[in-house]
Formats: sequence, structure tokens, C-alpha cells
Amino acid sequence: MYRVIIVMMLATLLAACSSQKDEVSSSKAVVPTSTAMSGHKMGDTDVKMTVKTPNVPFEYGIGMKKFQTMCASCHGQWGGGSEQGPPLMHLFYKPSHHSDRAFYNAALKGVQQHHWEFGNMPAVEGVMPQDVEKIIAFVRWLQRENGIY
Ligand code: HEC
Repeated sequence: MYRVIIVMMLATLLAACSSQKDEVSSSKAVVPTSTAMSGHKMGDTDVKMTVKTPNVPFEYGIGMKKFQTMCASCHGQWGGGSEQGPPLMHLFYKPSHHSDRAFYNAALKGVQQHHWEFGNMPAVEGVMPQDVEKIIAFVRWLQRENGIY
């Protein structure tokens, strides 16, 4: 319980310190259903999603911190997307569509633009495979919490 509180405090602190806009409170909610998935077309960049943000269990705390440091500037603090990158809480990114390997490749090598029109994703500077492992655990957990599986 004590640990959970620490993680929650950390999350609050991170949210408070973050200079990024609060992507999560975007007014344009996209319901993550298969209709939403087919509703987006190539070229859409206005695809920010409202993400359910439950309390983060202790085991995902490090992954959350790494995600928010390394990925959130484009994918949104809770993976809901931003003007710089797509929401990872989208059915496109469920495990059977984008495997864990896609996450390693994206973070370590970058991605050519192909689904959206945000431009390419550059390789994330200084990221290690161990970081990606933790990030994936956090992202998959948050996806499950948001019905993306
Ligand atoms: C500078 C902005 C930026 C940062 C930082 C960033 N991404 Fe991305 N990412 C993008 C964009 C843009 C795309 C969409 C490319 C497309 O499909 O058009 C993307 C796509 C992805 C994809 C899908 C890859 C695929 O095969 O289609 C994954 C997975 C991903 N990012 C994970 C991450 C993770 C994990 C991090 C942090 C370690 C991260 N991204 C950091 C911009 C970013």
C-alpha cells in the first residue's frame, strides 16, 4: 500500500512538473472500438484520445516514468497522442497488430511515417532495450485497462 502511494505521488508530481500540455484532457474523445479504428484514415493527425488513467500499480511505475520521459512528448502523457504523434491507446497498437518487437524497433531504430501524417518517428536518443521492456509492460497494462487487447 505504501509503495502504491509513492507511485501515485510520483505520478502527480510528474504531471505537475511536466511542461507538456495535458493531452489527456483533450475534448475530442475517440471511443476505442473497432469503429474508431476504421474511422481513422491515413493522414489524420487529429486523433488524440481520452485515456482512462487508473492508479498505476507499483510494478509499472518505472515503465510509466520512462514512458513519460522518453515517449510522452509525442504519444501523450498517457499514450493518448499529441500534435506530434499518434495515440498508442489505439486499436492499431494492440499486441496482435503491433507486437512488442514493433516497440523495440520504434524506440531503438525509429519508424518511417506510414499510418499517419505526423512525420517519421526518430530513434529515441539514449534509450536501452531494458527501458523499452519496462515501457512495453506499462503500455500493455494501460492498453488492457483501456480495452485495447
Ligand atoms: C518525436 C516524436 C516521437 C517520440 C519521442 C516517440 N514517438 Fe513513437 N511514433 C511517433 C510517430 C509520429 C509515430 C507514427 C509513425 C506512423 O505510423 O506514421 C510513432 C509510432 C510509434 C509506434 C508504432 C510503430 C509501428 O511499427 O507502426 C510505436 C510502437 C511507438 N511509436 C512507440 C514509441 C515509444 C515506446 C517511444 C518512447 C521510447 C516513442 N514511440 C517515442 C513519434 C514519436
